[in-house]
Amino acid sequence: MRQDSQWEPRVVGFLCRWCSYAGADLAGTSRKKYPANIRAIKVPCSSRVDSLFIIKALRLGFDGVLVSGCHPGDCHYQTGNYRARRRIAITKKFLEYMGIDPQRIQASWVSASEGGKFAEVVTEVTKGLKETGPNRLFIEEGQGYG
Ligand code: FES
Repeated sequence: MRQDSQWEPRVVGFLCRWCSYAGADLAGTSRKKYPANIRAIKVPCSSRVDSLFIIKALRLGFDGVLVSGCHPGDCHYQTGNYRARRRIAITKKFLEYMGIDPQRIQASWVSASEGGKFAEVVTEVTKGLKETGPNRLFIEEGQGYG
């Protein structure tokens, strides 16, 4: 069991392979410093991120979810990121209804050439989650990793 004084937020990052995942790679190869709190999952487009992926991550005990894709107008599938943006907005409202702080879900647009921006986004998301605190909603049901 984690001690609160040692608590660090755990974040799932769903990253579009064309832009944000490459941006994360660039952040690494450029030796940009950012918190190691994120677990990156490569997705073909931000629109691939189903609301259930986000809810499942929270049920598993992750403290937050970042969805990151190509900038508006740059999606390789034309309108995928617009769909993702709408889906995330609806998911946030649903989570709020369920009593989950919608700030646990963040979206950002990071291109393959924005390694520095990726590092900044992860830093900001991690900082925000430290203020929000641990996700304990599902722990009582035995679903969290504790
Ligand atoms: Fe990157 Fe759609 S291909 S968000």
